[in-house]
Amino acid sequence: MCGIIGYIGKENSIKHLIEGLRALEYRGYDSAGIAYFDENNSLHSVKAAGRLANVEAKLADKPVSHCGIGHTRWATHGAPSDVNSHPHGTASLRIVHNGIVENYASIREELTGLGYTFESDTDTEVAAKLLDYYYKEEKLTAHAAIERMTSRLVGSWALGILFADTPNVIWCARKGSPLIIGVGEDENFIASDITAILKRTRNYYQLDEGEIAKVTRDTVTVWQGEKTVEKPLLTADWDIEAAERGGFAHFMIKEINEEPSAIRTTLGCRIKNGLPDFASDAFDVGIFKKVTRVHIVACGTAMHAGLIAKGAFASLAKLPCEVEIASEFRYNDPLIGEGDLVIIISQSGETADSLAALRLSKEKGAATLAIVNVIGSSIAREADSVIYTMAGPEIAVASTKAYSVQTALMYLLVIGAAMTRGKLDADSARSKVTELYERAPEAVAEMIARENEIGSHCKWLAEAEDLFYIGRGADYHLACEGSLKLKEISYIHSEAYAAGELKHGTISLITEGVPVIALCTVPSLCEKMVSNIRETTARGAKALIICSHDAEIADDTASHIIRLPKIASELAFLPAVTVLQLIAYHTAAARGCDIDKPRNLAKSVTVE
Ligand code: AGP
Repeated sequence: MCGIIGYIGKENSIKHLIEGLRALEYRGYDSAGIAYFDENNSLHSVKAAGRLANVEAKLADKPVSHCGIGHTRWATHGAPSDVNSHPHGTASLRIVHNGIVENYASIREELTGLGYTFESDTDTEVAAKLLDYYYKEEKLTAHAAIERMTSRLVGSWALGILFADTPNVIWCARKGSPLIIGVGEDENFIASDITAILKRTRNYYQLDEGEIAKVTRDTVTVWQGEKTVEKPLLTADWDIEAAERGGFAHFMIKEINEEPSAIRTTLGCRIKNGLPDFASDAFDVGIFKKVTRVHIVACGTAMHAGLIAKGAFASLAKLPCEVEIASEFRYNDPLIGEGDLVIIISQSGETADSLAALRLSKEKGAATLAIVNVIGSSIAREADSVIYTMAGPEIAVASTKAYSVQTALMYLLVIGAAMTRGKLDADSARSKVTELYERAPEAVAEMIARENEIGSHCKWLAEAEDLFYIGRGADYHLACEGSLKLKEISYIHSEAYAAGELKHGTISLITEGVPVIALCTVPSLCEKMVSNIRETTARGAKALIICSHDAEIADDTASHIIRLPKIASELAFLPAVTVLQLIAYHTAAARGCDIDKPRNLAKSVTVE
């Protein structure tokens, strides 16, 4: 998704804009650009389709500047091209924009009638020219013009704005798309996320919905409507090393390697006397005695983490739990209200569909809980309660450590729910917590140590055109995540299937040499899984099995078998998902794919 950076201060802004944009590359982009004031206070734009290096090449004369804004674009309206890249503007102003202006066509028509012409196909240029109209033609102040312009827009925006006649000010505004203001020494920033400015500062203000801000080198003023607002200064507890590759070939493999410590950090502060304790989150597990149903709503990998939690709610806490895709949730007339608890799981805390699902759930009277990685993100702030995962920044588009900490944290939460509902005694709970906190991270680390062995299975997978993941119960949910991971970074078509459902149609696609990755970590389902695997190999499939250490599976059942380390079977999902992530990683690497920046994908999906 698009990225925004802005710098104003004593140093050369160009350096900080490029550094910031580079740090935001992980969000996904197809073009980039900057606008800056030069030493004579003239306003310039430099923009180009493709990689950031194309912008840098156009800056070869190394201009000196102390104020500028920059943008990485992920095309929505208009193809990736130099002219469609941001910033957009007029002689009087430049803007960079994240989000979508839904009513741009009618405003464009209106502005054309007023004599404006347009060079790009973007919705952003329409916003820029509307702002120009209020500023230059109606002669409103900068603040009033921004207020007026945004009041006309339908959609979502995070905006960075420079006015040609005020070279010492960056303006910004937010609705629907995240934007922060970084506070440094003798310098300030705007950014779409904290990773862009971590090298310079960890202190920031989070802009709230509808707010407009004026940022100078040493002041920040924020308005909500006519009134100025005092904002709390937040401090990110992430350091710059956490947001850098640190010697790893890709962020994805670095983040897989961080899983054991991320799980421990996330769980450690929520365990007291060997039992779950969410007092430091001000979350009362007593709510699980009152609610009649839990709904987990999320997207992509976070939704898959919810599926693992659903199984645990049923088996441990005996509490019905539905898992819903956030983009479908509000269009399916969800039957929720008082007595329901809606849990939104999100790494970024900014996913537009998940945020919309949260708002709808609150409207309908359900209690809401956010499981979120980014402190101060929209979902975290709007939910009734929040429990933060502590994975540190996740930069790779393919989510890995976030899933591990989400599932581990949800499992701890379910143990708490089971206890409070009288379904689990303290001793049993304590031994489950020990296995989760002590053994699970070790088991994950053991699989990471076997990276080479796992990678050696991927050469033949890399040649596949189509691939199937199968499993039953929790293993089917793992299969969904394994398949998603492979698709997004290797571009191999793959499907996750409930193993028992294959013969109801899909088995017709299993032909000679088709790879089938079979998950087999649930002991009670192992025998049935072996039958399902044999159904596929009998039709020529080449099977790779991932199973528990002692699964009774004969060596001739599959071409390859990866046995997990010893761990309680209900927690086998943790080392198993690490194997699936490593398979996706090494398969994509064998195909020469751009692993951290897969095509067409963005890290944080802040539009519907
Ligand atoms: C996973 O690898 C993804 N790239 C994607 O499915 C992601 O999990 C989804 O977009 C949800 O994001 P969130 O956790 O930030 O809400």
